[in-house]
Amino acid sequence: MSVFLQACRREPTEYTPIWIMRQAGRYQPEYRALREKVSFIELCKTPELACEVTVRAVDQLGVDAGIIFADILLVLEPLHIGFEFTDDAGPKILSPIRTARQIDGVAESIDAAGSLSYVMDAIRTTRKELKVPLIGFAGAPFTLASYAIEGGGSKTYHETKKLMYADEGSWNAFMTKLSGAIASYLIAQIDAGAQAVQLFDSWVGCLSPSDYRRYVLPHTKTIFDALPKSVPAIHFGTGNPALYPAMKEAGGDIIGIDWRISIDEAWSVLGNDVGLQGNMDPAALLAPTEVLRARASEVLESAAGRPGHIFNLGHGIMPEASVARARALVDHVHDASLNKS
Ligand code: CP3
Repeated sequence: MSVFLQACRREPTEYTPIWIMRQAGRYQPEYRALREKVSFIELCKTPELACEVTVRAVDQLGVDAGIIFADILLVLEPLHIGFEFTDDAGPKILSPIRTARQIDGVAESIDAAGSLSYVMDAIRTTRKELKVPLIGFAGAPFTLASYAIEGGGSKTYHETKKLMYADEGSWNAFMTKLSGAIASYLIAQIDAGAQAVQLFDSWVGCLSPSDYRRYVLPHTKTIFDALPKSVPAIHFGTGNPALYPAMKEAGGDIIGIDWRISIDEAWSVLGNDVGLQGNMDPAALLAPTEVLRARASEVLESAAGRPGHIFNLGHGIMPEASVARARALVDHVHDASLNKS
């Protein structure tokens, strides 16, 4: 079995496996060249191209897993929430969801294998090419809801919290629809060949632990409960380490953590019965190689060779990073962890 899947199962590995969130993207010259020719959405919807960029990232970096090239927002289309990707301002929701009437207009359920068949085709094609495991993924209900409600990225999430606090019934109705769609989307990806899945709750850190437990945890839990236990599930959140115990309760075999807490402290809080993924600050990739290696070693020392650690950044790789540095990171993690785990 691959080192990545062994680590997902908290089995000892020969070395610490690593992959990098957003490992296929604009920091790669080849990706930028391809994007001169095709739009981001076209890239997502063309299985041969999605396969090409997924495999290229694995080959260039030497990482231990691939992640299918797609986006967390794609599932909004079959839910009847329109969006577009702009080149300068990121994704934009055409009519942000602010009212109970708009929530009524969101689809009750989706046929993920049909309406998102291009993702499943990309997974099937990529599985044939890839020599390491392939990760499928989806956005978590809170992160997707916040995008749909704010209309795009936000620093404060005031519209999201306003709806959540002012109309809990509508909030729960929306989160229920999103959770059902996300669960069926992830199951369709597993059926198509995804060997692990990651749920991205990238923006959940803006909540307090008690609000997370009340407004988010029950919904996210329905997703993990619906997934087959045979496929490892990674539950990623950023911005607020105080949420990790509640995120663990919601589910996931591995919790994906950011750099705001150390690996050893996260493990002492969360206990032995969960794996950890992370957690180097992505900004370290902008530092000189010696500093980059030192920061990576610090993460490895904090994990102390304990089974169940998957090396990653604490959040996605930045467009300003370089392929050479990212490759140096992967090689260093492999060399420095060899036979120590
Ligand atoms: O990790 C990978 O290599 C797989 C591909 C992947 C993308 N998006 C491709 C992408 C994954 C796993 C995502 C997840 C995603 N998408 C998240 C969660 C991860 C995180 O970083 O927190 C979020 C919040 C989104 C929504 C999204 N998509 C934003 C905010 C943006 C614009 C900002 C940005 O970073 O460009 C996108 C567009 C996007 N998704 C790009 C890529 C490679 C850039 C599009 C381009 O080519 O111009």
